[in-house]
Amino acid sequence: MRDSFARKIDYLRISVTDRCNLRCRYCMPEEGVPALRHRDILSYEELLRVAVDAGVCKIRITGGEPLVRKGIVDFIAGLARLPRAPEITLTTNGLLLAEQAVSLKEAGLSRINVSLDSLDAARYRQVTRRDGLAQVLEGLEAAVAVGLTPLKINMVPILGVNEDEIAAFGRLTIERPWQVRFIEFMPVSSDLDYSPGQLYPAARIKADLQQLAPLEKVPQKGILGPARIYRLQGAVGTLGIISAVTESFCRECNRLRLTADGQLRPCLLSQNEIDLRTLLRAGIDDKVLAKLLQTSVTAKPERHCGGIGCGIGQRRMQEIGG
Ligand code: 5AD
Ligand code: SF4
Repeated sequence: MRDSFARKIDYLRISVTDRCNLRCRYCMPEEGVPALRHRDILSYEELLRVAVDAGVCKIRITGGEPLVRKGIVDFIAGLARLPRAPEITLTTNGLLLAEQAVSLKEAGLSRINVSLDSLDAARYRQVTRRDGLAQVLEGLEAAVAVGLTPLKINMVPILGVNEDEIAAFGRLTIERPWQVRFIEFMPVSSDLDYSPGQLYPAARIKADLQQLAPLEKVPQKGILGPARIYRLQGAVGTLGIISAVTESFCRECNRLRLTADGQLRPCLLSQNEIDLRTLLRAGIDDKVLAKLLQTSVTAKPERHCGGIGCGIGQRRMQEIGG
């Protein structure tokens, strides 16, 4: 599918649940958020139908935390059997990874991104409001052992919280073939514990990494996606810097999003949605569904307005899937 600005849209992000077993302070309040009712989230059968008709070659499964939804392994196996055999990846907080890594790999998952914002147990608890660092580290090992690689780590630096760990995260790539990605904090909702003033901009992330060793730009093939990729001179792994706020990457955006409650969202930061759930349950046929997917693609804005203030509307990041 092509959008109105000649971008080829071949990447679908599916949020399979809004629930999460962590309470990261940049994502949700202490008490969590009212969970969707089971009947309000799309069934795996419904999700598979959308995935078939979207005809994409890459699917990322997100949440909330996707590994907390029952049956996720069988769902992945189902996606892997789709006609186009799309590449399937998943973003997880890693808590349940150690126990599920083998079955995820066997189901056909190709790789994973693990969100991890601190390498210090006390600070991990501070950011996520839960214990779990040791469990996540075990999860990383398990993922590497079964070949869910190249492993990617997502870290969100927040000023005054964990920005002093950028170097430690960067150093992980010196001897490991991992990609450590720094994601600019998006102050998307007003009830978060962190304020817009705590945004740690991409330029500063890059400057901190340059203190470790000279940064080499890694040539990127094909569609670039939102990450700019670098390598510390002599390192085995790579670094990614993702700046959703201070530098727009909309020109290279290749994705569509499906929220846990079945809304098709052409842009993370645009509130324009198509209510696929209602339509699917009203019995639309595949032709109409395919047409709707194209409509959503056509509705992709050329760019979002730049982050702060443009916002994700009434929704939270874990409903949309980041
Ligand atoms: N700003 C930046 N990144 C965020 N994520 C969740 N909420 C935010 C936010 N407000 C990240 C998670 C995860 C990825 C999918 O999105 O850490 O790695
Ligand atoms: Fe859960 Fe991810 Fe939100 Fe943290 S950022 S609370 S892991 S959905």
